[in-house]
Amino acid sequence: MNVQTSETRLPSIGDYYSATQLRADRWSALRETAESLLSHGPDGRKGAKLIKSAEALFEALAPIEVYWAFPGAYSFDHLKRLLEQRNIEDLAISVRRVARALSSGAYRRRTIPIASDELDNDDYEDESALAPEDRALGRPYFEVLIVDNVNEHQERFLRKNLHRVRRAEDPFIYEAVVVPSLEDALMGILFNYNVQAVIIRPGLTLKSKNELPIIRQYLSRVSEGEDVDGLQPSEYGPEACRLIAKVRPELDAYLITDRSAEDIAGLDLGRCRRVFYNQEDFLELHLNVLRGVSRRYKTPFFTALKEYSKQPTGVFHAMPISRGKSISRSHWIQDMGAFYGPNIFLAETSATSGGLDSLLEPRGPIKEAQDMAARAFGSKQTFFATNGTSTCNKIVVQALVRPGDIVLIDRDCHKSHHYGMVLAGAKVVYMDSYPLHEYSMYGAVPLREIKHTLLKLKAAGKLDRVRMVLLTNCTFDGLVYHVERVMEECLAIKKDLIFLWDEAWFAFARFGPTYRQRTAMTAANSMRNRLQEDVGRKAWNDQQKALEAADDETLLATRLVPPPDARIRVYATQSTHKTLTSLRQGSMIHVNDMDFKGEVEQAFHEAYMTHTSTSPNYQIIASLDVGRRQVELEGFEFVQRQIESAMAIRRAVATHPLLNKYFRVLTPADMIPDQYRESGFEAYYKAQDGWSDKWEIWAKDEFVLDPTRVTLAVGDTGWDGDTFKTKILMDKYGIQINKTSRNTVLFMTNIGTTRSSVAYLIEVLVEIANELDDLLDDASKMERRSFENRVTALVKDVPPLPDFSRFHEAFRSGAVTPEGDIRSAFFLAYNEENCDYLDLDDTLMKRLDAGEELVSASFIIPYPPGFPILVPGQVISPEILSFMRALDVSEIHGYRPDLGLRVFTSDALANQVTN
Ligand SMILES: Cc1ncc(COP(=O)(O)O)c(C=O)c1O
Repeated sequence: MNVQTSETRLPSIGDYYSATQLRADRWSALRETAESLLSHGPDGRKGAKLIKSAEALFEALAPIEVYWAFPGAYSFDHLKRLLEQRNIEDLAISVRRVARALSSGAYRRRTIPIASDELDNDDYEDESALAPEDRALGRPYFEVLIVDNVNEHQERFLRKNLHRVRRAEDPFIYEAVVVPSLEDALMGILFNYNVQAVIIRPGLTLKSKNELPIIRQYLSRVSEGEDVDGLQPSEYGPEACRLIAKVRPELDAYLITDRSAEDIAGLDLGRCRRVFYNQEDFLELHLNVLRGVSRRYKTPFFTALKEYSKQPTGVFHAMPISRGKSISRSHWIQDMGAFYGPNIFLAETSATSGGLDSLLEPRGPIKEAQDMAARAFGSKQTFFATNGTSTCNKIVVQALVRPGDIVLIDRDCHKSHHYGMVLAGAKVVYMDSYPLHEYSMYGAVPLREIKHTLLKLKAAGKLDRVRMVLLTNCTFDGLVYHVERVMEECLAIKKDLIFLWDEAWFAFARFGPTYRQRTAMTAANSMRNRLQEDVGRKAWNDQQKALEAADDETLLATRLVPPPDARIRVYATQSTHKTLTSLRQGSMIHVNDMDFKGEVEQAFHEAYMTHTSTSPNYQIIASLDVGRRQVELEGFEFVQRQIESAMAIRRAVATHPLLNKYFRVLTPADMIPDQYRESGFEAYYKAQDGWSDKWEIWAKDEFVLDPTRVTLAVGDTGWDGDTFKTKILMDKYGIQINKTSRNTVLFMTNIGTTRSSVAYLIEVLVEIANELDDLLDDASKMERRSFENRVTALVKDVPPLPDFSRFHEAFRSGAVTPEGDIRSAFFLAYNEENCDYLDLDDTLMKRLDAGEELVSASFIIPYPPGFPILVPGQVISPEILSFMRALDVSEIHGYRPDLGLRVFTSDALANQVTN
């Protein structure tokens, strides 16, 4: 970590992944320097050195502070002057206040006294000690970015006027930051997460004068593929609006222009909320800014539930826990009431009226909350679910897949999909993800495999029965598809395919500009826009001519263009609770389907009814509503912080000599084979080269690795992933993780991960490495050999991962293509007569080697890897058997160690064929 003291050299900018961390560290370094100056005095050699350090820090902070309202240019200059005047006492106090206010966020809640005449007023409360209720009482704070090339005098005029129109009843408080150019505006919104609104005035210029690379790199996230150089000055404003919507679509933009209304009307202004024609009505602007933020702040259902809980009611229906009645009268369960506090019970009710709503037929605040979630996540319709994505997946599949429809699905998908296929009666084609044998984990399904499967079905004349492609994005291990490309190329083969993207782990992605382009909803919207453009039509016509007599190999090697009349039919399911703020089981289904209203709505409703409890949990629904508010207002900030935390882990492991002796963070190059990494990008951080994280990689490569998932290879410690997780991390250090492979453990950062939790993790890893060093130092020759053998077994002797074998003929009705009737196999096993159990011993392998076909009668799911290596109806291949036998995990769902592997009897299979 970059611990900075006044005695050490500044860490170089290249050490930092983000300007936010750099800023925080610079301020704490300045505080330490000012304090050292106070104790040593500015004189003598040491004093002179400290003065130099302080000057360097001011210089380093100057190009950064221009994007932030606090402490702001005026106070920053004041601090600099204190140093110039050698007023060390005031400098130390003021810098301490700024640094503390920045780290605690106190500046958001009150004015921080900085100027010397305010310094007596030292009523410094400890912000971290504030009770949540006290924090909730304050008015939320944000910053407004004003883009205009004004002089100091004009800037003061702008600020003064915006301060003048503040009213006591304003729900929020904000401060303005003024930057001169379009480029500064883009860098400002990507750096300063406090910005909620941007006011673009006619005087803006194009280019920024800021040369700091760590700031300028933000531009590459926006302007890749955008050419702003040729713009006329009159176009800067509208273009700024469009680009702001591209990178932070949740922000409100206001355009003040001197162009005519007719001129502006035809332009793409992104999500500009209002255009003002050359006016300086500050009150109007102020009210608009507040209204824009209120729109996102509003939580219809959470608010309704709070209101409801305040009303006196008599409960004459079910739910004795409602209003805490069964608890407060109890002699034995008082501790439950004390633990949870009264509000949760006041908000527990089965009522759907009195200001509340019904999840099953929402017309009031739940409907409104869902509509707001649709806006936030870029869908056309959003539905809340209170039983996790497991349920969402089954709802979507039931709504869209009819018995006999063919569904292409990644085999290592979550088990809810397999059960969904059983329930829907789908004919399933399992597609294999590329294997990562050396880490005992799967990657993701290559596009070539998906296209190949579709082309095979086309050749067999079955394309009309192919209904859906279902993929997991991102995968548990963080592999992210090129969603738009996958959909485009599949639509080029079948133009009305439906896509279900399981984004259980990806709800946060919408709020990171780089990630967003790889979410299902963003891709669907982008495709909708592009299909309507003439260039798309022409590209398709040209490609059709070029590919007239093309064979499959050519089609597989070509980036296919979807036809202009393709239907965009995209669904995404997200476990909000996994990556954003929501109580457990809070999930959402996002829909972006051109045919939803016409074709699906009724079936969707039925499916929703099938799987949704008639007593959905209101606390979960309210938390989804609040979680949506959070992401619309601070999702960007939290996702940035999350990425920074993960990057800090990557850097520490790569640079710490003891850590990299036993551990290694897997890089994109480790987890994505070369052919799927067209950019050649290898690692987010390399000790010798520093950082690289480019927008271009996310725009181009077939797969990218989500950097917030940190897979640590632990084979060199001699412990397998599972032992490392339970015996070391959990039992010894209380660190929880939930995914391991034979020789890796996965650390998932989330929006709640703090810098100190990252520091703790690194400390723990260092301690483990130290202990291992000590152990090996004292080890006997035999002990050493035993350790080396364990490492070799974990790192080198890894059992190869098996592919999906195939469905048995009994479940394929003689098909030449691979789809199987998983439903028949599943229910065939309900009759014990049809099943037998076989030991996993050598005789079983001999029977397979002799050519006997043995067919699984159940799902066999080892943890890890956590997905079925056998499904009902699947032929057991020697590879699968070897893999199972080599697995050293204790938890295998569906497998009974006392009985063995459950298989179908040959009679059952023969009867099934004849039936
Ligand atoms: C890819 C995937 N989809 C769906 C689910 C189920 O989500 P939930 O726990 O919200 O039911 C999981 C759970 O781990 C998952 O990993």
